[in-house]
Amino acid sequence: MVCLVLVAVAACLGAAFAGRHDIYSGYSVHHVSVQTAEHSALLHSLEESLSLDVWQHGAPDRAAVVMVAPQHRRRLLRTLDDHDVPHTTHRADVAKMLEEYDARLAAWRSSRSSRLAPFDDFPRYNDVDEYLERIALQYPDLVTLVNAGPSWEGRDIKYLKISTTNFTDASKPIYFLDATIHAREWVTTPVALYSIHRLVEDLRAQDWDLLNDVDWIILPIVNPDGYEYTHTNERLWRRTRSYRPDVNATCYGVDANRNFDVAFNTVGVSSNHCDQTYPGTEAFSEPETRYVRDIMLEHLERIQIYLNIHSHGNWVLYGFGNASIPDNGVQLFHVGAAMGAAIDARKLPIALFYRVGNSAILLYPTSGSAQDYAQSIGIPLSYTLELPGYGVQFEVPPEYINQINSETWEGIAASARLARSYYQARV
Ligand SMILES: *[C@@H]1O[C@H](CO)[C@@H](O)[C@H](O)[C@H]1NC(C)=O
Ligand SMILES: *[C@@H]1O[C@H](CO)[C@@H](O)[C@H](O)[C@H]1NC(C)=O
Ligand SMILES: *[C@@H]1O[C@H](CO)[C@@H](O)[C@H](O)[C@H]1NC(C)=O
Repeated sequence: MVCLVLVAVAACLGAAFAGRHDIYSGYSVHHVSVQTAEHSALLHSLEESLSLDVWQHGAPDRAAVVMVAPQHRRRLLRTLDDHDVPHTTHRADVAKMLEEYDARLAAWRSSRSSRLAPFDDFPRYNDVDEYLERIALQYPDLVTLVNAGPSWEGRDIKYLKISTTNFTDASKPIYFLDATIHAREWVTTPVALYSIHRLVEDLRAQDWDLLNDVDWIILPIVNPDGYEYTHTNERLWRRTRSYRPDVNATCYGVDANRNFDVAFNTVGVSSNHCDQTYPGTEAFSEPETRYVRDIMLEHLERIQIYLNIHSHGNWVLYGFGNASIPDNGVQLFHVGAAMGAAIDARKLPIALFYRVGNSAILLYPTSGSAQDYAQSIGIPLSYTLELPGYGVQFEVPPEYINQINSETWEGIAASARLARSYYQARV
């Protein structure tokens, strides 16, 4: 398509993207105020009966954010009205919202003078792969690239091991962090890449201890099939992309963060094959979750802290998903609070403050999560980190990538130091 010089760039780009998100045409997004347990229960039942996509769970002082298909919209709003649950329309048309976001992203990219590093952008799978390969090649004494194996669709799932002693010094704890287990949570990928950057390419004087005294495993894209699918087909895809026609011929994938072998398929899951929280036919049915498990088991004695990075909501969460607190609950809170506070100290005024606590108590019960699996097999400090959504959920404006990267790095650094001191007490 030819863009006339006189036509505003954004409008032209907007036209270029028209139609790309047609599957979301007529979908709308609503803020729902859930002030009581009854409101919460009502919304939960509507989530199932109307196949709502819950973008953000509600709390007494944070509205829930839900997307609804056009055919269910009237019923949702009428039911909320009937029960006096306050609600407002956040987005009237998700397709339009996504087209505008694409245009904004393209305009932002073209306004950059130099080529963006993959951690300054929302990189595609191939860009991430290239980056990991380059870092491993350029820093062979420090970095080992590992190919865990193929995803369901055959993309290699790679991670970096970063260590000044090639993982041979058992007196060092291991920090394992991963991102993009949920495909649409785009801003988590740059955070993982930026952590690599800060440890390897841009190690600053104040962070020498993090490299010398800790070994790192960083896996930037747990779910590459889903991630690529969000770039090419459905921006709001969350699940993996496995296909098992004997189970269900119409719906692809499972919620990878319900697919781990811990209280599998008990609470916080849907039995509907097409729902966002369908956990799969059995624990570890997905190759992607098996690779995460295998990393944990291979290094179980030394992984002191595991961070499963998500977007969004400003939460530092820990187990268990059934609301019972692990024995070392005070340490979990201590390290999680230090992480959240370090990030808060650098937060933007528009961002929420982090909240720290048990995931079931603060948010909702879950089973089969990566966080709970790591905790249950003996990784002492296991967290789910929910990055900021700035009130726009998954469509984080690209201008904020840098901010999220650098503030989150400070939180990771704070948690690594405390994890190390608890590890010394353990060995
Ligand atoms: C670390 O040791 C492994 C063998 O255990 C070797 O394959 C790898 O290349 C080494 N990495 C570095 C960075 O020295
Ligand atoms: C697949 O799942 C959808 C949604 O639950 C359901 O309507 C359909 O009947 C299922 N198909 C099979 C073969 O189970
Ligand atoms: C909660 O879940 C954990 C991990 O699965 C389990 O060890 C614990 O026994 C459960 N607690 C209760 C009260 O069910």
